[in-house]
Amino acid sequence: MQEVIKELEEKRKAAALGGGQKRIDTQHSRGKLTAHERIELLLDEGSFEEWDTFVEHRCNDFGMPDKKVPGDGVVTGTGTINGRLVFVFSQDFTVFGGSLSEAHAEKICKLMDQAMKVGAPVLGLNDSGGARIQEGVASLGGYAEVFQRNVLASGVVPQISVIMGPCAGGAVYSPAMTDFIFMVKDTSYMFVTGPEVVKTVTHESVTAEELGGAQTHSTVSGVCDRAYENDVETLLMVRRFVNYLPSNNREQAPHRPTPDSVDRLEMSLDTLVPDNPAMPYDMKELIYKVADDYEFWELQPDHAKNIVIGFIRLEGHTVGVVANQPDVLAGCLDIKSSIKAGRFVRFCDAFNIPILTFVDVPGFLPGTAQEHGGIIKHGAKLLFAYAEATVPKVTVITRKAYGGAYDVMSSKHLRGDVNLAWPSAEIAVMGPKGAVEIIFREDIGDEDKIARRTEEYRQKFANPFVAGSRGYIDDVIAPHSTRKRVCRSFAVLRNKKLDNPWRKHDNIPL
Ligand code: HXC
Repeated sequence: MQEVIKELEEKRKAAALGGGQKRIDTQHSRGKLTAHERIELLLDEGSFEEWDTFVEHRCNDFGMPDKKVPGDGVVTGTGTINGRLVFVFSQDFTVFGGSLSEAHAEKICKLMDQAMKVGAPVLGLNDSGGARIQEGVASLGGYAEVFQRNVLASGVVPQISVIMGPCAGGAVYSPAMTDFIFMVKDTSYMFVTGPEVVKTVTHESVTAEELGGAQTHSTVSGVCDRAYENDVETLLMVRRFVNYLPSNNREQAPHRPTPDSVDRLEMSLDTLVPDNPAMPYDMKELIYKVADDYEFWELQPDHAKNIVIGFIRLEGHTVGVVANQPDVLAGCLDIKSSIKAGRFVRFCDAFNIPILTFVDVPGFLPGTAQEHGGIIKHGAKLLFAYAEATVPKVTVITRKAYGGAYDVMSSKHLRGDVNLAWPSAEIAVMGPKGAVEIIFREDIGDEDKIARRTEEYRQKFANPFVAGSRGYIDDVIAPHSTRKRVCRSFAVLRNKKLDNPWRKHDNIPL
């Protein structure tokens, strides 16, 4: 028996070395950790239980039978993050560049199948050269098996992708179908076709970093939800992020008790909205001041900045926040912001996370770029997402809620549960000046008359009371009491039950 145990230990040691010390050193010299080191950082100390340590590839071509590494380029298993069960896979770049073989894919699929059965999140640490070239179509089949599971797990257990090296070709579509993507700056990249192919086809010269680095995906494309400086920071942030999420779609997110009082008043909010309705202000100040302990976990902070999304806690419960940002594009809705917020609303709804919406929106962004880009369909995504969401929805209108954008932003008409307004709210079809210039066109040129008419329109409609008189908002509240009112509203809604009609699935405008 002693002999066998010794042999087992030897085998484990060999497996832990992956592609060997030389390749581990290369990985380190690039500022990257190994697959095992990453798992150690991500999970609670000593909680990792590895599966399939001894799985090997089955490729018989190109001299591959002589090149077998136990584990075959991916470390898989279970562990805990702050005591909660998670399933994790971590691709090992030191073994055939972390490339995905049939056996490598089977390991990931086994993990995902089990995660769905027990209802726990799947975290994938990606560092791979893509399909195992020596295996050809077997590897492509493996990818598709993973994709299929990504889709079946969507909305059942949270799926998080961390990109910590290359992720190219069709391989990008597995992370793309997960709920959140985190990237490491400078050492990770994602693209469907690399710089060489781009050069051949479109004659553009672009580096891998410019094409698909963390900076590009967290600003221009919005593919990445957050980017961090290095492996260590990224994994520690992912640990914290997981605390906001429930383990599956039948559970609530973990409750975190807080000493922060529900009754905390924030007098400074009374002067947040400037007297001049054309002046911007930073909506994030409101989010921070309403949240427990002034903590806000923002997602995609550098992409489509005219809308702000992320998680806060209220009375210890996770709440998804969507807020127009008057500081950027005056808070207009456009294609990118609609997609960004629409997907987030759907995540929250799928995982029982209540939604808090702060509204200051002058409308949809006008222009040919938007119309030709399909703002009609993309804007409808956000509208659709809000309308189908059945989780508790609380809305606060701080200033403008104009036109179709008023309807979209979790209005009463889209089953908003509690809709509140600050006294500075203007709920109307459009701004007073624009309205007057249309309905009193004959007066254009007569400055005095236009000014009088504008003031008259402002008095009549640019306030929350017309909407209030119809019950479209439930109350007009003092800005300083927002935290208290919002917390109380969510407390009332805690046992909300609402079902949509049966159907196979809806047909959201994609
Ligand atoms: C097998 C691979 C591999 C792959 C890398 N390696 N990619 N082995 N299949 N896809 C091996 C290398 O041979 C090398 O082995 C080791 O991994 C490290 O690779 P290097 O090239 O030395 O590393 P680096 O210079 O950092 O370059 C990394 C890289 C490059 C940019 C990822 O390796 C590369 O371009 N690889 C090919 C990428 C690719 O075309 N993949 C297929 C894409 S198509 P040794 O023994 O020397 O250490 C695809 C389709 C998916 O993925 C479809 C899904 C639907």
